[in-house]
Amino acid sequence: MKVIVTENYDASCAVVAEMIRDLVKSKPACKLGLATGGTPVPIYKKLIEMNKAGEVDFSQVHTVNLDEYCGIPGTHDQSYRYFMDTNLFDHINIDKANTFVANGMGDFEANAAELEAKVREGGVADLQLLGIGNNGHIAFNEASDHLISVAHIETLTESTINANARFFEKKEDVPTKAITMGMGDILAAKCVVLVATGTAKVPAIKGLIMDNVITTQNPSTMLKMHENAIVVIDKELADAVGYKA
Ligand code: PGA
Repeated sequence: MKVIVTENYDASCAVVAEMIRDLVKSKPACKLGLATGGTPVPIYKKLIEMNKAGEVDFSQVHTVNLDEYCGIPGTHDQSYRYFMDTNLFDHINIDKANTFVANGMGDFEANAAELEAKVREGGVADLQLLGIGNNGHIAFNEASDHLISVAHIETLTESTINANARFFEKKEDVPTKAITMGMGDILAAKCVVLVATGTAKVPAIKGLIMDNVITTQNPSTMLKMHENAIVVIDKELADAVGYKA
């Protein structure tokens, strides 16, 4: 696992946007694993700017998203399909037919099976983008005494519901279940890039980069087993966890 420390969060987002741009330039029909949440928004903004400036062409790119809430349709403004459309896909020259976000409505088990198939359809992701939960979750794989390898339905923890309540009118509106890629799906990607910023992430990032322990209580620590995992943090977060490059 490689750790990159940048000057600030904006610089972290620039580094990651450039990684994605360079990948798409070298492999125009690449497959990207994408993430939602607050962290990737500026990364997507930079990719939109690059696309508008003619620096990167998404016309042949395929994408698969990590997860989706159960119980809200893709038209709901807090669904991850809506998030991806409004924060990225609607503003770049990607063919939306080549973008996959699990369906949060109907038969959840069948939708999880569909996500599992999409993870490997046409090959695994060339790059999987990740945020990290305050409790160390990646996608919606929550801290637990066991983790699940394949796409499945996860019951969200109190910590995750509290963290995501900021996006909803009230906490009670946050869905309690989600369809998520499993740990094996995430680790299958050729390259995994995790971006984190902010004091809320200190305990999770400490567990990820400050020792050699792998624990299901901090799912992100599984990335230590990946040969091409990159953690991008800003200096403030590196200092807060005591990381020295
Ligand atoms: P955030 O969420 O980017 O909104 O902090 C990250 C996550 O829960 O994976």
